[in-house]
Amino acid sequence: MSTVCSTHKCDLSLLDSVIEQWKGEQGGLLPIMQHAQEVCGCISEDVQHYISQKTGEPVTKIYGIATFYSQFTLSPRGRHTVSMCMGTACYVRGGAKIFEELQKELEIEPGCTTNDRLFTLEATRCIGCCGLAPAMMIDGEVYGRLTTDLIHGIIDKYRQKG
Ligand code: FES
Repeated sequence: MSTVCSTHKCDLSLLDSVIEQWKGEQGGLLPIMQHAQEVCGCISEDVQHYISQKTGEPVTKIYGIATFYSQFTLSPRGRHTVSMCMGTACYVRGGAKIFEELQKELEIEPGCTTNDRLFTLEATRCIGCCGLAPAMMIDGEVYGRLTTDLIHGIIDKYRQKG
């Protein structure tokens, strides 16, 4: 079995020492998976299979834990989360066009993360700033009255930050 996660090329053997420490312990999967989330950025399919093979626990159990606890994600997340509001007020004021522009700017589909793991793009429900529609949030900061030509500049600000 490969020891490199194909989702984002992380070295799965970095999980070995924590797996050794916890395998066979009651509740030991949680600290193993927390470590994996930290090292690999998510509990991808490869990560699930690797932990399963090393601990002897079924993949379905690992998958169950990964989807039950919100601290785990199945795909890697970017450093910055771009959440486009798709609530009614934003939608009627052209939110869909802004969302399209974000997808073009970041070159990803909704729900995905850029290859450099800088941005995750998602659609969200009303963020409570309907007066500023169309609006989006980046890492909790609200950007309102958006037009497509503002998108590049806003995203670039976060690119500069890294
Ligand atoms: S609908 Fe977008 S902020 Fe309320």
